[in-house]
Amino acid sequence: LRYVVGITGASGTIYGQRLVEVLLLANHRVDLIVTDAGFEVGRLELGWETSKDNLESNIEFLNRFYASRGVPTENLRVYDLFNIASDIASGSVNVEAMIVVPCSMGTLASIATGQSGNLLERVADVMLKEKRQLVLVPRETPFSTIHLRNLLTVAEAGAHVLPAMPGFYHRPETLEDVVDFVVGKILNTLNLPQDILQQWMGD
Ligand SMILES: Cc1cc2nc3c(=O)[nH]c(=O)nc-3n(C[C@H](O)[C@H](O)[C@H](O)COP(=O)(O)O)c2cc1C
Repeated sequence: LRYVVGITGASGTIYGQRLVEVLLLANHRVDLIVTDAGFEVGRLELGWETSKDNLESNIEFLNRFYASRGVPTENLRVYDLFNIASDIASGSVNVEAMIVVPCSMGTLASIATGQSGNLLERVADVMLKEKRQLVLVPRETPFSTIHLRNLLTVAEAGAHVLPAMPGFYHRPETLEDVVDFVVGKILNTLNLPQDILQQWMGD
């Protein structure tokens, strides 16, 4: 299946990085859109060798990065944030779902108001108008009333709001376990089989 993943400049690039990995490992096609701030936060948080003005070298880096982890990259396509004429900007292209992870408050506001100011925002808008699955993973704390209103607006428009709020009842031992809690929740929302987050069987 074909999924669009958007990575914005909210903290938590690692969630998006991991979701892309899991989808590629399951042989899905991943159309990836990263905002300028997304590349910058990836650089700061994860040591990504990316910059905001060189898409070609960013693409090379992402391919190299996943290949070094044994992840097949032939189904990974990284889009230019400002190429509004990309195929996925149209509702006629059959995309299963879009996941924006992590989702900044800035991008959330743009989606909530239908701005479509870049390719990521446009695809999110297409998902809502076509009634396809749009999963937003917001990350900010505390929330202002503006953030909360925007979250309600997108939820009412049909988006799944799945905040990056890892639980601890599964007793995570590593950072990867914490990340996989959130990524596992995303996969559950997409109805994709997953074994990275165990179902809680009750106590
Ligand atoms: C290290 C770092 C962490 C940030 N964390 C957050 C965050 O958790 N949530 C948020 O909404 N913005 C956060 N920001 C601010 C966004 O990156 C900024 O608002 C940016 O304009 C968002 O642009 P985008 O939505 O196009 O990615 C962070 C910025 C930096 C540099």
